Amino acid sequence: MATTPVPGTRVTAAAAVPLPAGAPRHIAIIMDGNGRWAQRRGLPRIEGHRRGVASVRRVTEHAARRGIEQLTLYCLSRENWRRPALETTFLMHLLEQYMTEERALLMREGIRVAMIGRREGLPAATLAALDRTVAMCAGNTGMRLCLAINYGGRDEIVDAARSLALAARDGTIDPAAIDEETFARHLSTAGMSDPDLLIRTAGEQRVSNFLLWQISYAELWITDALWPDFDAGHLDAAIEAFVGRERRFGGLASS
Ligand code: IPE
Ligand code: IPE
Ligand code: MG
Repeated sequence: MATTPVPGTRVTAAAAVPLPAGAPRHIAIIMDGNGRWAQRRGLPRIEGHRRGVASVRRVTEHAARRGIEQLTLYCLSRENWRRPALETTFLMHLLEQYMTEERALLMREGIRVAMIGRREGLPAATLAALDRTVAMCAGNTGMRLCLAINYGGRDEIVDAARSLALAARDGTIDPAAIDEETFARHLSTAGMSDPDLLIRTAGEQRVSNFLLWQISYAELWITDALWPDFDAGHLDAAIEAFVGRERRFGGLASS
């Protein structure tokens, strides 16, 4: 399927204000509302996804310039395959196109790229474009952009349990020695910090199988803004709200 160029290629680079003390190191986003954005304009849902890519571009650049250490974006869930084939096929082509078109921006901003999620089931061309981009950005030292593609939180936990069970059976791990750190090392996010802030757009108040293990103490920030309308200002507002929160991790208020 041929896709026309993604609109909004020109990034509106907002001035990068230094991060305040107590800002989130790792922000994860459930990018929702592409379909509704399109439907409200009488457009096909796929047009919302195309516009959503422009938001990814804006927000990635802004987060990198503000000094966020990691941005994790929920691009496609395992459950999204329940959608009509026309839509999922389009999403695959869009991902492939994004991986290719984004290289200049990723290199310019020094962004590293990682993918979490199941590779099986993704088209070879999409994976090839993704792998090339990851390899190209491997030497960068700036923000880490983690793309959750064909990702499911429960799936990831089951995979970790299986790999630990195999290691125990083979005698390479002592079941009594398995603790939270060991478990986390068997997740696809091994080596990454947990998200401090989880943003969801389009007003839905649920986590939709995203990073179930990793968000145990993430602060939630939900906006009614639809993902194609989400911009640098929304990201700044979320960061500001986060800074004003008190994270207690089960303890008591500090004052
Ligand atoms: C999010 O937008 C993008 C993906 C899940 C791929 P949606 O496509 O879920 O948009 P709504 O929720 O139908 O508006
Ligand atoms: C979550 O959005 C998945 C992504 C953003 C990729 P959905 O639109 O799939 O979530 P539900 O179905 O409303 O829970
Ligand atoms: Mg949705």
